[in-house]
Amino acid sequence: MEFDDVSFDKAQALFLGQDSERLIACLAGLNLGAPVEDDQALSIVEAMGWILPGTRTLTGFGWLVSDSCREYKFWVERQRRLPFLGFTEALTETAFHGKAVLEIGAGMGANLMSLSPLVKSVEGLEPVAIYRQMGAILRQREGLPAARHGPGRAEALPHADGSFDTVLLVSAHQYMELAPAFAEAARVLRPGGELILVGGVLGKFMRKVMSDLPRKPSVIRPGLVTLVNTLGYMALGHRVVAARSGTTTSRPIYPLASSICRLLRDVGLTVTVPGAVLSDERLFRATKPLN
Ligand SMILES: C[S@@+](CC[C@H](N)C(=O)[O-])C[C@H]1O[C@@H](n2cnc3c(N)ncnc32)[C@H](O)[C@@H]1O
Repeated sequence: MEFDDVSFDKAQALFLGQDSERLIACLAGLNLGAPVEDDQALSIVEAMGWILPGTRTLTGFGWLVSDSCREYKFWVERQRRLPFLGFTEALTETAFHGKAVLEIGAGMGANLMSLSPLVKSVEGLEPVAIYRQMGAILRQREGLPAARHGPGRAEALPHADGSFDTVLLVSAHQYMELAPAFAEAARVLRPGGELILVGGVLGKFMRKVMSDLPRKPSVIRPGLVTLVNTLGYMALGHRVVAARSGTTTSRPIYPLASSICRLLRDVGLTVTVPGAVLSDERLFRATKPLN
């Protein structure tokens, strides 16, 4: 699924046009399941085929467009800053200064936009074409130059050995096959380079399921699948229930911090921050030895 040239041009005109703020708010609201009352914006969303006719139900394509709008809106609301800075002294902006950075699982590229002014170079890797296309449009909206934001998967990176000072993973490791993804991250780091991973672990995930349970019993089944898959991954090295094909964000796993550290050590990295607590997530930093 991706925009063809005609629909890309139409989307670009809409997201750069006069009513773009309302359109973005409408799509972000639909994505979050919030009440949306802007009939004019809704009629544009319907004309683009992003909701089913006469409903507020997002189509598959519309969901990816709306997800990008939600990410973008949150990014603007947090003053266009990286989401994970300011929670711990174990990570500050200086970690990125002057570095060649690769973000794996970059989504529509909000972190790439925040990193651009800090780094020597930044590149994103994202398997979902619509996220990359929406990222290109939203960067234009921000007056930023086009980014390197290419296709690919964490488990088989299209980059040469030793290409980056820093590899970044933010809220993305849960969808990956961790052992090959970490091996690939270690391969593309230069000696002395660093992997920075920010993401959830099992405890936080289970607390969220338990707190959602009283008002949303539908969380039981996916919660159980995630628990089984996470425990399966820690014990056997693979998911028991396979990820759904056609989507990159199904069947997440949230291994314990100790399991993540073990997997990082297994690929030859030296763990320097073994799961520092951020607001909701954990921070891991691991360096590639010099020799
Ligand atoms: C929750 S989003 C996070 C996006 C971004 N890192 C951020 O912080 O805004 C997770 C992203 O990881 C991507 N992803 C999932 N599996 C992947 C894989 N095996 N390799 C690379 N990216 C993957 C998804 O397509 C999705 O865009």
